[in-house]
Amino acid sequence: MRIPFVAGNWKMNKTAAEARALVTEMIAGLSAVIGVEKVLCPPFTSLAVVATLLPGTDIGLGAQNMHWEAKGAFTGEIAPAMVAEFCQYVILGHSERRAYFGETDETVNKKLLAAQAAGLTPIICVGETLAQYEAGQTNEIVGRQVRTGLRGLDPTFASKLVIAYEPVWAIGTGKASTGENANAVVRNVIRPALAELYGAEIARQVRVLYGGSVAAANAAEFFAQPEIDGALVGGASLKAEEFVAITHAAAA
Ligand code: PGA
Repeated sequence: MRIPFVAGNWKMNKTAAEARALVTEMIAGLSAVIGVEKVLCPPFTSLAVVATLLPGTDIGLGAQNMHWEAKGAFTGEIAPAMVAEFCQYVILGHSERRAYFGETDETVNKKLLAAQAAGLTPIICVGETLAQYEAGQTNEIVGRQVRTGLRGLDPTFASKLVIAYEPVWAIGTGKASTGENANAVVRNVIRPALAELYGAEIARQVRVLYGGSVAAANAAEFFAQPEIDGALVGGASLKAEEFVAITHAAAA
């Protein structure tokens, strides 16, 4: 049985003071949702303050990125141990990182190996762009992102991975994929690629989320799919009531 998983990716939103207010607003509602792994991913500058609000709850904390090196002359970057000081999770390879900051399947793989060494649970994002979707390349692109980005891991660690399938054309556009389409990509591409790397048993254990314009109104459609184990939520995770409603849908 895969435990449902819902993470909020706040992206570049909220100062530390605003983060404190938002978490304070949603903490009781989120805590009342049983049987779902819930994770908040605020910006780096809010991790320390949010970390002080979560003890005694079952809400986890994640970063949105990190570097793969342990330390050194990498101005502006954050090391795995710095993330692990506050977080249990880290988002890796988000499409915005790939599109605007030059991340590739190779750098995602380096970060994943670093997350493994740091004891962090990664939420790895994969997904095709609109051009790739329209050219019928979804399976090829997503398959390659999994096979290249996720290779070389310890099998025990691999079984604990969380993958988010996020079609780029669905992110922040209000045009979500359909439950059926997303389920087909997970069933036909993501789990088979995982099975190629780590065997069928591990491929069955990995949680795979859908992401891209998930809202309270459409979450149930995705959670009803047999291969989809939760959601990575962007815009809607900045609204307390909306995010709590999405986690409720995952519990149902
Ligand atoms: P969105 O973002 O829910 O705002 O579409 C999802 C994501 O980028 O993780």
